This record gives sequence, structure tokens and C-alpha cells, in this order.
Amino acid sequence: MSLAKDEPVLIIGAGTFGLSTAHKLASLGHTNITVLEKDDQVPSRFSGAFDLNKIIRSEYIDPFYTEVALQAIRQWQTNPLYQPHFRQVGFLNVVTGEASPVVQNALHKYNASVAANSAFDGYLVPCPDAAAIHKVAPQFTGDLPGWTGYLNRLAGYAQSSNAMQAVYGACVQLGVKFALGKAGEVDELLYETLTGGKKCIGARTKDGKVYQARTTIVAAGGYVANVVPAIAPQISAVCWGVSHIQLTPSESEQLRGFPVTTVRDIGFFFEPDPATHKLKICYMGGGYTNQKNGLSVPYSTLAEGEYVPEEDIRQTRRLLKQVLPHIADRPLIDKHLCWVADTGNSDFIIDFVPGTTDNSLAVLSGDSGHGFKMMPVIGNFAADLLSKGQQELHRWRWREPKVEEGRPKHIAWRATATVDLSSMPRSKL
Ligand SMILES: Cc1cc2nc3c(=O)[nH]c(=O)nc-3n(C[C@H](O)[C@H](O)[C@H](O)COP(=O)(O)OP(=O)(O)OC[C@H]3O[C@@H](n4cnc5c(N)ncnc54)[C@H](O)[C@@H]3O)c2cc1C
Ligand SMILES: *[C@@H]1O[C@H](CO)[C@@H](O)[C@H](O)[C@H]1NC(C)=O
Ligand SMILES: *[C@@H]1O[C@H](CO)[C@@H](O)[C@H](O)[C@H]1NC(C)=O
Repeated sequence: MSLAKDEPVLIIGAGTFGLSTAHKLASLGHTNITVLEKDDQVPSRFSGAFDLNKIIRSEYIDPFYTEVALQAIRQWQTNPLYQPHFRQVGFLNVVTGEASPVVQNALHKYNASVAANSAFDGYLVPCPDAAAIHKVAPQFTGDLPGWTGYLNRLAGYAQSSNAMQAVYGACVQLGVKFALGKAGEVDELLYETLTGGKKCIGARTKDGKVYQARTTIVAAGGYVANVVPAIAPQISAVCWGVSHIQLTPSESEQLRGFPVTTVRDIGFFFEPDPATHKLKICYMGGGYTNQKNGLSVPYSTLAEGEYVPEEDIRQTRRLLKQVLPHIADRPLIDKHLCWVADTGNSDFIIDFVPGTTDNSLAVLSGDSGHGFKMMPVIGNFAADLLSKGQQELHRWRWREPKVEEGRPKHIAWRATATVDLSSMPRSKL
């Protein structure tokens, strides 16, 4: 298929993938793009990237994603749209002395993958012990018991809500239309039945308005199965808890500049945000599902997700005691659950929906919790799909999992298995 520049394109979801795609298509000269978003603001509070910051790392155990992440990092470094939101403070990838062999093994694989890739020459600092880590992160006041790993300086973090806001602004400048709130929340996709399948012709929003489109692209993150129910067997909505510590401006200044740190067996944290002086920290277990009738979908309201399970609090304090004990007992604020769309093997799904004709319906989903860093390039892949008319990269195709495989349960690079929120005690703090 070829999509003429003036044909109507509908993008559902103004999160990381949807905004990037709208921006790319508008930059290519498409003149009739409408983005529908269920929040009444962009950046959307329902987006998995509605946060102070996200890690922009370039190493993956899988060299395919390393290449994509390296493309993305070059954009974060140089593209005037993205660069103001990127801080190349480095990525410290470590384990504690208590890490299980599985987690230690994952660290060794990451380490081996960067050591073998010349793109990282000159950026790597081995950190075999706590003394070496204190050298690259003198801000850490804790003992770092048994910590070992490496620092990769070709990495850092991006201020994710700010970046989404910037891309939103750039889209508006390029003439992309947005409908937000009830006027933007898609209730259902609309189809025309034809011989040989059905053709998606657009969507109806909660307020009853119909948006007609030649091509509809669903980029609804963890909510994708609400819009495209056929994808449910491949996707499980999974969330993690995010918390913050409010520092004073001078405390924040003292901690300025340490690398984004992932302690693979506990969690990850960022330097204090320069504007708000909040330090973000996240326990990185296997994540939580919200199972309803065998399907995990995110909570439908924001208020339901404004907490983290007790286990997250416990692990967050455990991590802080090892690294920044002077703030380990501070109140944890702005706690919330953050949702992603998990696939069984962490591969994205960027493809047309089988059974729909004329390439009328595509999904851009399955971010599996590692999609934000790809924001500057994900729209290129969406545009490629539309221009080529099919997904040439096998790994990003729509998959029809065999029934006996069941739902995605355990992703190898995560420390522990996924559990359901219903079985997790809530913190009373
Ligand atoms: C705790 C946590 C930490 C993370 N850390 C990192 C990290 O360090 N590095 C990294 O690269 N990635 C990270 N991620 C992952 C990253 O946030 C996601 O991969 C990314 O946001 C996925 O983009 P998306 O566009 O698919 O979904 P989202 O950004 O979630 O956007 C989906 C959008 O669709 C909208 N929507 C849903 N349903 C509808 C509907 N019916 N109608 C209209 N709009 C709708 C939503 O409101 C939302 O705005 C993290 C995620 C979490 C939860
Ligand atoms: C965009 O497409 C819609 C749906 O087909 C149509 O109603 C509208 O007139 C188009 N707008 C422009 C500027 O072409
Ligand atoms: C990482 O790789 C380097 C170079 O091969 C090696 O010297 C170091 O011990 C490794 N570190 C870890 C934590 O695996």
C-alpha cells in the first residue's frame, strides 16, 4: 500500500510511541494526522513515561536492540528536539553481594555485550568493587556492600514527561490535530465488512464522535487490548512502583551528577531532578499484573494507581540504606504504579493487524518496559511499516502464540517472577 500524504491517519494514544509516530509522519509531509488521547493533557498521566526521568542506556544482551538503542542515543545527543531533555551522566550497572546467580549472570552478559562492541570503546569503566564505584560516584555515602559491575558513559537519562511535552509541541507546530479527554478516549474501532476481511475505517470516542481514517495506528501502551482485543493473548499489562524523595536544593546539589544506577537485584534510581529536587527510585522486581478474567489490564483510573505495594517500600529502603543511608528513612512521595505492555520475549509488536484489509489497522505496542529510550526512532519504524506495507523484521511481527504457551509470565532479564497486585499488601504510609 502507499498512503498518500493527504489521506487521514488516526493515531490512538499520545504516549511515547504515538507522539514519535505522529511527529515522524508529520515531518514526512502527511497533512491529515489526528491523535486521540484519553487524558485531558499531554504528557498523558496514563503514559508509562509520565515520569521525571527514564534510563537511556544503549546496552542490551541482544545486539539487535543495542543497534536500535545506539541509533536512539545519537538522536538524544544531537537532535534539537530531544537533546535538551537528555543528560549523559552514564549508566552504572551493578549487583549487590546478595544477588542470586541468575542476576549475576545477567550482569556478566551485559558486561560482555558492551565489552565486545566497539561502539563503547572509551566509555566503559570496570567497577569490580565498592571502592571503584565510589570513584565514579563519590556522591554515594553508603558502604555498597558487595557491589560489583561497570559504568558505561555512553548512556544517561532523559526527562521523559518534558520530552513528551516537547514532541507534542512540535507535532502541533507541524499541524497534527489532537483530541483529548472524553473527546479523545477511544471506545471502539470502526470496521467495514468486506470480502476477504474487515477494513478499519476509524474510531469512535467516548463522547460519541466518529473519526474516519485511511489508516489507524493503535499506540495505547498497556491499554492496547482494550482497543484491539485480538492482541490479548500476546500482551500482558504489567506495572512497577515508582517513588520519590523530596530533597532540599542544597541536598540535591550535593548529589548532582551521579550516574543512573541500576542495582539489578533491587532497583534503580536517578540523580535528583534539577528542577524539583526529587530523587526518583524504583524497585525492579518482576512487576505486577492486574488480572481480570485471565487478562491483565491497567487500572482504568489514575487514583487507583497512586500507591506502591509494601514490598516496594521495603526494597526501596533496603537499597537506600546501602547507597544513600542519610536519606534512607525519608518519606516516600508521589508514589504511583507505572504500566507497560509486556510480550512473552520483550520484543515490540509493530505490525498490521491480521484479518484487517488494506493495511487499514496497525499496532505499535509490546514495549515491554524498555520503550522510552527508543522515542526518537520508533516513529521511523512505524513509517517504514506504512511505506513497505508489511513488517520485514520478523521479531516485530504480530504473533499468534500457541494456546499451551499461555500468557507471558517471566522475562529472563528481570530478577523475579510477575505477581498479581491483588496478592500484594498495600503500604499504609
Ligand atoms: C516504572 C517504569 C520504568 C521504566 N523505565 C524505563 C527506562 O528506564 N527506560 C526506557 O526506555 N523505558 C522505561 N520504561 C518503559 C516506557 O515507559 C514505555 O516503554 C513507554 O512509555 C511505552 O510507550 P507506549 O507509547 O507504548 O505507551 P505509553 O507511553 O504508556 O502511552 C500509551 C498512551 O495511550 C493512551 N491510551 C490508552 N488507551 C487509550 C484509549 N482507549 N484512547 C485514547 N488513548 C488511550 C494512554 O493514555 C497513553 O497516553 C519504564 C516503564 C515503567 C512502568
Ligand atoms: C482529514 O480527513 C477527514 C476524514 O476523512 C476529513 O473529514 C477532513 O476533511 C480531512 N481534512 C483535511 C484538511 O483534508
Ligand atoms: C566485564 O568485562 C571486563 C572485560 O572483559 C572484565 O575485565 C570484567 O571483570 C567484567 N566485569 C563483570 C562485572 O563482569
